[in-house]
Amino acid sequence: MTGLTQAVMEDCKVCVALVMILVAVDVVGSGVHIPTTLEGPFEPVTWSFDPMLRRGSDDLPMDHPRLKKNVTSNFPEQIALAISSPTAMWVSWVTGNAQIGLNVTPLDPSTVASEVWYGMESGKYSMKRTGVSMIYSQLYPFEGLLNYTSGIIHHVKIDGLKPGTKYYYKCGDSSIPEMSEEHVFKTLPLPGTNNRIAVIGDLGLTSNSTTTIDHLIQNDPSMVLMVGDLTYANQYRTTGWKGAPCFSCAFPDAPIRETFQPRWDGWGRFMEPLTSRVPMMVVEGNHEIEPQAAEITFKSYQTRFAVPSEESGSNSNFYYSFDAGGVHFIMLGAYVNYNTTGAQYAWLEADLQKIDRRVTPWLVASWHPPWYNSYSSHYQEFECMRLQMEALLYRYGVDIVFSGHVHAYERMNRVYNYTMDPRGPVYITVGDGGNIEKVDVDHADDPGKCPSAGDNMPEYGGVCHLNFTSGPAKGKFCWDRQPEWSAYRESSFGHGILEVVNSTYALWTWHRNQDKYKENSHGDQIYIVRQPQYCSASLKIIA
Ligand SMILES: [Fe+2]
Repeated sequence: MTGLTQAVMEDCKVCVALVMILVAVDVVGSGVHIPTTLEGPFEPVTWSFDPMLRRGSDDLPMDHPRLKKNVTSNFPEQIALAISSPTAMWVSWVTGNAQIGLNVTPLDPSTVASEVWYGMESGKYSMKRTGVSMIYSQLYPFEGLLNYTSGIIHHVKIDGLKPGTKYYYKCGDSSIPEMSEEHVFKTLPLPGTNNRIAVIGDLGLTSNSTTTIDHLIQNDPSMVLMVGDLTYANQYRTTGWKGAPCFSCAFPDAPIRETFQPRWDGWGRFMEPLTSRVPMMVVEGNHEIEPQAAEITFKSYQTRFAVPSEESGSNSNFYYSFDAGGVHFIMLGAYVNYNTTGAQYAWLEADLQKIDRRVTPWLVASWHPPWYNSYSSHYQEFECMRLQMEALLYRYGVDIVFSGHVHAYERMNRVYNYTMDPRGPVYITVGDGGNIEKVDVDHADDPGKCPSAGDNMPEYGGVCHLNFTSGPAKGKFCWDRQPEWSAYRESSFGHGILEVVNSTYALWTWHRNQDKYKENSHGDQIYIVRQPQYCSASLKIIA
């Protein structure tokens, strides 16, 4: 038996005892019964779209106070934090003026330094780190289309941080001098301490996105998990003007899926009040692909965000992992090779083997398009990815999977290979951040709403649509009722908070946007309970 095997077994024994105690405390103690996954699988529940609400809203204009640049050229703006490791944080920001036009001249990143001063007392910065700076361009070699080149994007890693501790910092270039105002953040707590993780997806930059973010800030998270489709800058022509809910419908003559890159800068400003004090961890969605000249894709996403790929042994920014407050997070790329023979799969397997569940009992995975989804939109779109990767994640006991892409909320019963299984992860879709494409309301099991074979083509990878081989939908592509693996679904904008209570209990609450205006109101809520007695599968792998 290896040391790691022994460790996992000890974890199992402790956790089984804790599960039993906590179930008793919860059910007997609180008065208000919050269901636990131990009581599942649950009968499927559907809340249809409330016709009193609007299905969508327009994007905020570029001159909106939350989007427009309100600092001088080299003053740091769009400040954002990202976790590098439990003791290190990335600080990113932008200086200089982006340009858009037929001819643009890239800025020289070496002209402005990248410094962060930080310390544990306001106004006293005992530590200083320097980092890297870069620019990117978005070039469209088509007549009449405008090109873009970014401001200077800075990334600095600060280290030596203690858990659960406040740090004050400034960023910028002290030689100009152009240093930012003081900002403050708190590092994530030690494992075993209450840890609040906000989860959002498909956010965009509309008035609904504003409600989502303001509501999320009220809920005071210690980090933000952003599950892809960030700005929706690709709902625009390069000339800007007005974004459209459907690009191909509004602009059928566009020679390429254009973007209006200044939307990214507006989004960075819009997010700064949150991201300058709470780390945000991102994974790419289809709206980040943004093809341009020379078949270059994902340029804005890749340049703007620092992610701990190198720190986690990944050679790609599209997939990486990190530890935060008792959780090991795995972020997977759905728009790069996910096959069992590819580099991502090899990295994932190696990463899973290294997890010490005494340190990070929780294992949370995230990628953009959901594998389990009963809405018509994106139904079975990423079946090929599921077929390649699901068994590996299952064997290592992934607890929760967060995805977006579908613009609605759905929580699954524990499931593996479309079969209810207490060892399977809890899959949750939260692609309901509020973007311009509007909320999804149709279910694949609604009469006449089962997608046809040509619908829901993935932007990457093949098509692996399947008919179910067992259960009430045997032989069919769609169910005639809400599938048994779908526990709760509701069409509304919102965000989620995962509150990691201890090594076995986490409280998941979905906060609908309309609940922002009511006291103690929220949507779906459940305790997700780890059951380490089912560790045996992962033990076989580790031993
Ligand atoms: Fe998407």
